[in-house]
Amino acid sequence: MSAAYLAPEGFEAELAEELAREVGDALQRFGRLMVAPGPPRAPAWAQNVWYEPERVAIASIKDAARTLRARQRNWAAYSWTAHRRVALIADQLPHVSAKPIAPFAPLPTAPLGSFTLLDRDTLLFAGRCASPFPHGEPRFVEDREGPPSRAYLKLWEALTLIGQRPAPGQTVIDLGSAPGGWTWVLAELGARVISVDKAPLEPSVAARPEVEARRESAFAIEPFEVDWLFSDVICYPDRLRRLVERWRPFAPRMVCTIKLQGQTDHEAVRAFQAIEGSRVVHLGHNRHELCWLYGV
Ligand SMILES: C[S@@+](CC[C@H](N)C(=O)[O-])C[C@H]1O[C@@H](n2cnc3c(N)ncnc32)[C@H](O)[C@@H]1O
Repeated sequence: MSAAYLAPEGFEAELAEELAREVGDALQRFGRLMVAPGPPRAPAWAQNVWYEPERVAIASIKDAARTLRARQRNWAAYSWTAHRRVALIADQLPHVSAKPIAPFAPLPTAPLGSFTLLDRDTLLFAGRCASPFPHGEPRFVEDREGPPSRAYLKLWEALTLIGQRPAPGQTVIDLGSAPGGWTWVLAELGARVISVDKAPLEPSVAARPEVEARRESAFAIEPFEVDWLFSDVICYPDRLRRLVERWRPFAPRMVCTIKLQGQTDHEAVRAFQAIEGSRVVHLGHNRHELCWLYGV
């Protein structure tokens, strides 16, 4: 039994360190893709997991395409070597729609497999993958008018993946909210948003009736009952963890960005993973940061 894990671009070292801690030298690396023995795990730095990958010798491009088509319709090609050959195999497979989706749309249900070539003559593929999106990267129909920053795409992605979102009238707190991308998403959902940042919100967001803007430090606020807590504050991971521990008795659901800088602090990430009822993921719209999901 094994699984293959795809790192986000630029974060191969992070995924390798996470997996090597569990499987040591048994980890095999193929560019961003890493194969580890044992049951599938959920490493924070894997943007997609290929379940039970199979290796098959192929005689030709046609042969590879035939092997894949015989299994199922939809395949995403990951290419790290033999790029032209991988592209030629992909050309012989049915077209997979990469149409941008609307936020909060139900996740696609058609199985989407992934494949790559390990060398000219060896196909590695899995029909079942953790993400319904190619390489774990959803694309959204963007809103270029409403949100004041592109950070809103991270929140759209997190809420779409978990299939839950604040209901109209629920009270939510958004920490580190300026210029207001996340606050805009939450206000659009009809939630009552307490929006906290030392910096000002974009006036069009601050003026919305759903929004109460507070110009103060996120760390100075005494916790109170909320339906959801959101945080995109730039701070050290340990400082964020102490903050969420204080809010835990008051906030049943939390969505927070763990900001990392320089050398990734793996120890700090593990401390978040250890919080019961939570998980840490790398969203397609995250860069050197992770998304911590609690109670959802
Ligand atoms: C990545 S930006 C947030 C973007 C925001 N989520 C959006 O969608 O527009 C990080 C924010 O954290 C804020 N910040 C940093 N330290 C803070 C603190 N102690 N209290 C509140 N906000 C803080 C910064 O002012 C900055 O606006």
